[in-house]
Amino acid sequence: MTTPPRVVVFDAYGTLFDVHAAMAGHARKLGAGWERASALWRQKQLEYSWVCSLTGPEHWRDFEAITRDALLTALNWDGGADGALVEALMDAYRALPPFDEVPEMLQRLRENDIATAILSNGSRAMLDAAVKSARLGHLLNEVLSVDAVRVFKPDPRVYRMAEDAFHCHASEMMFVSSNAWDAQAAWAYGFRTVWVNRINQPTEFALSSVATVMDDLSAIPSLVLGGGPEAT
Ligand code: LAC
Repeated sequence: MTTPPRVVVFDAYGTLFDVHAAMAGHARKLGAGWERASALWRQKQLEYSWVCSLTGPEHWRDFEAITRDALLTALNWDGGADGALVEALMDAYRALPPFDEVPEMLQRLRENDIATAILSNGSRAMLDAAVKSARLGHLLNEVLSVDAVRVFKPDPRVYRMAEDAFHCHASEMMFVSSNAWDAQAAWAYGFRTVWVNRINQPTEFALSSVATVMDDLSAIPSLVLGGGPEAT
């Protein structure tokens, strides 16, 4: 049996927190196309983060600014939105709910002396707000924001933050993400990797060969602990 990882590092948005809950909560105001708008919001948010990373530090905008820009694009696609709705959606994004299994999964890791962390493109303020609203703070050893390095995942400088925070090599840690591009980059960096494929999407980057693929996060403790006895 392989040695259990010392640390499990989680992506935040889409992995621990449901990014589509923000628009779902305002579906009536957004109308029938809200799911398409929410997908576009996410797509543009990621696209803008990568453009920001690649155009260099003088063009840095934090993830909250990028999230707002992407929201305006997504809403403009369908004719625009009033300022109050934009602010309500941004507020909802700061308080996204965790997926149902998240608190118990983190609790089981902590009870078994496995350290836990978030490593996210989110800004410090956004992550602190989301963790507080979801009451997860006591279940996480570290919440690492890219604000410290002013570049976004999948830049390797971001993944290195986890090594620096825990003084261990990526191979001693497990990285968990629902974003295929993030899982691929973490694997390439050297982490043991889990790809959470909640919506049964086709495999990307051959992740089914190099990562463990799961439907949700509930099996993380048994994967980490190798099926051995767990604290209850
Ligand atoms: C995160 C986004 C990109 O880093 O999912 O949390």
